[in-house]
Amino acid sequence: MRILLDRDSSQPMYLQIQDRLQALIQSGSLLPGERLPSIRTLAKTLQVNKLTVIEAYDRLLAQGLIHARQGSGYFVDPVGIPAPSKPSGFEPAQDVVLCETQSNRPFAIYARSIQAKQQPGVIDLSCALPQNPPNDLARIVRRVSNDSDSIFSYDAIEGQSRLRHQIANLVLQLGLEASADEILIVNGAMQGLSLAMRHHLQPGDWVVVESPTFFSTQALLEQLGCRLIGIPMDREGMNLDLLERYLQSHRPKLIYTISSLHNPTGLTTHISHRQQLLHLAAQYHCPILEDNAYEALHFGSAPPPLKALDSEGLVTYVGTFSKTLSPGLRVGYLVVPPSQYPALLEQRYLTDIHTASLPQAVVSEYLAHGHYRRHLQQVRAQLLQNRNQMLCALETHFPEEARWTIPEGGMYLWVQLPEHYRFQMQKLAQQARAADVLVLEGSAFFPDGVGYPALRLSFANVVPEMIEVGVARVGSLLKTRHESVQFT
Ligand SMILES: Cc1ncc(COP(=O)(O)O)c(C=O)c1O
Repeated sequence: MRILLDRDSSQPMYLQIQDRLQALIQSGSLLPGERLPSIRTLAKTLQVNKLTVIEAYDRLLAQGLIHARQGSGYFVDPVGIPAPSKPSGFEPAQDVVLCETQSNRPFAIYARSIQAKQQPGVIDLSCALPQNPPNDLARIVRRVSNDSDSIFSYDAIEGQSRLRHQIANLVLQLGLEASADEILIVNGAMQGLSLAMRHHLQPGDWVVVESPTFFSTQALLEQLGCRLIGIPMDREGMNLDLLERYLQSHRPKLIYTISSLHNPTGLTTHISHRQQLLHLAAQYHCPILEDNAYEALHFGSAPPPLKALDSEGLVTYVGTFSKTLSPGLRVGYLVVPPSQYPALLEQRYLTDIHTASLPQAVVSEYLAHGHYRRHLQQVRAQLLQNRNQMLCALETHFPEEARWTIPEGGMYLWVQLPEHYRFQMQKLAQQARAADVLVLEGSAFFPDGVGYPALRLSFANVVPEMIEVGVARVGSLLKTRHESVQFT
């Protein structure tokens, strides 16, 4: 294999290597299954640093062009499923929703998705669970379980020191500089959200959420007696003109935002949107709760989190290993402004003292041996294939007037449907279920439980062939329902 590098070029070496290898793969000069030179060999041949080759291989992994096999090296993938070229037509109505009473019931949705996992033959396009846990996780659980001294006693309220340092390192790679002393380990993102909300909010307070947004957060806020201002999402994220209007008129006490790979739309906001949002929050003295549950699942690079751009201590950041490693381990974390840390720590103690030691030790061990980085590369590559398959299937099978988002990572996309489906969505979801396909109706994600007709479709848990089958079944139901409305 010949790779010519231009040492006078302004293009960094790792990008040149990535480009050349990509061209060799796409032209068929390197065939599926073929082994790439080892990192050491290629670095020696090209007379570059090993880190340069690692960076190039990492990028090819993230593109889904190659995969790594433990102990054997790097191999060319079968030709990937390319993304269709049609741009996103997502352009929803911009209606603000004010909501004072509970309208969503997330528990039924959760119970249904757990049940669906046990049903053979069901194509589950509804839930955002990682695929099977990595093989090496079970081995690590066994290894860690042997250390009975450290896992069967009471542990630190804030979480294990080694894990907090590792998380500080992880978020640093996202551009977020935080010391281990600002990190609080929690039982999944959900507990982190609950703690932060209890810290900031009183019954009757107004809280800004994106509309649509993650339904469990809405339920949590409503349980706390808060009133919701649902600011509509457009292609760029939360509509900031409308946000400013409601910051002025309602003086909310918190802005809850999912800035990266938003649930349910899959959108990631641009850095300029983040800066503007921070500026508004500072102007109206409104703290921000940033939920980045899907942060590690970006196909390419993501802008730094809001928290990384925050110089005023306004942002509390929530992360989790539930979407990447295992939701059953229940390990998440908060990155907390130092002034709030003691109060949150006390609240943490009063809730359940600390996160169980065994799951913390398992995650820490997994991170310590470099398994996580490799695992993420594989997960992202698979998700990219799945997303592309879903986009192709939507173009082929969904009605012409449907519009959808094109997420740059994560587990799902959002389909906006025309108004004439408004009263048919529940029936549609039921018919899809009868046809062994699970989808989530958009209404579950709107603060008023209504919104516009939409579906959240997950590409996380289904192999590409079945994504095509599932989307085709739902598309055919949509077309039939449209016709039956037109002709009756
Ligand atoms: C945006 C968002 N935040 C938080 C969570 C909950 O994460 P965890 O399982 O870590 O509590 C989810 C789960 O679906 C989510 O989508």
